[in-house]
Amino acid sequence: MALLRVLTHPDPRLRLVAERVTDFGEAFQTFVDDLVETMYAEVGRGLAAPQVGASLRVVVIDLRRPDEGGKLVPGDVFVLANPEITFREGEIVWREGCLSLPGIAAEVLRTEHLKLRYQDRLGEHHVLEARDLFAVCIQHELDHLDGTLYVDRLGPLERALALQDYTEAQHLAGRQAPPA
Ligand code: CO
Repeated sequence: MALLRVLTHPDPRLRLVAERVTDFGEAFQTFVDDLVETMYAEVGRGLAAPQVGASLRVVVIDLRRPDEGGKLVPGDVFVLANPEITFREGEIVWREGCLSLPGIAAEVLRTEHLKLRYQDRLGEHHVLEARDLFAVCIQHELDHLDGTLYVDRLGPLERALALQDYTEAQHLAGRQAPPA
């Protein structure tokens, strides 16, 4: 297994619409393992293939709820290939962050309850139902498959402020400030 490099905004590869997974063979299995390992190493709750430069419709999610001491512990890992939301109900506002936009967070309006059709890492078809944080994570990660970042879902002013904070955070982190 290997750690993959997570791309950060404004890398243009984050803006591509990813291709469907058609080959669930050995190379894909290795890639999924690497994606999961990278998600844990980066302390994220989810990671989408385009975030590591792979144009594939697959995301991994582990909600890692806190244990009694408040420490996030690994839980169930979901590998969602070719996912499609088939039902949406209700609204929820959640404060989101993203490994591709380090240093900032913002409140995003999402669907509270959804149903999803997807294939697992072996290509088997499944459906699942998700609410609250799980539903939010699914929508956030699925957005990456279509080249969408959560800041795109903010109002114009909020978005501008978030990106301004991001530029400052990048600068403070010693990274080059992204072009506007
Ligand atoms: Co993200």
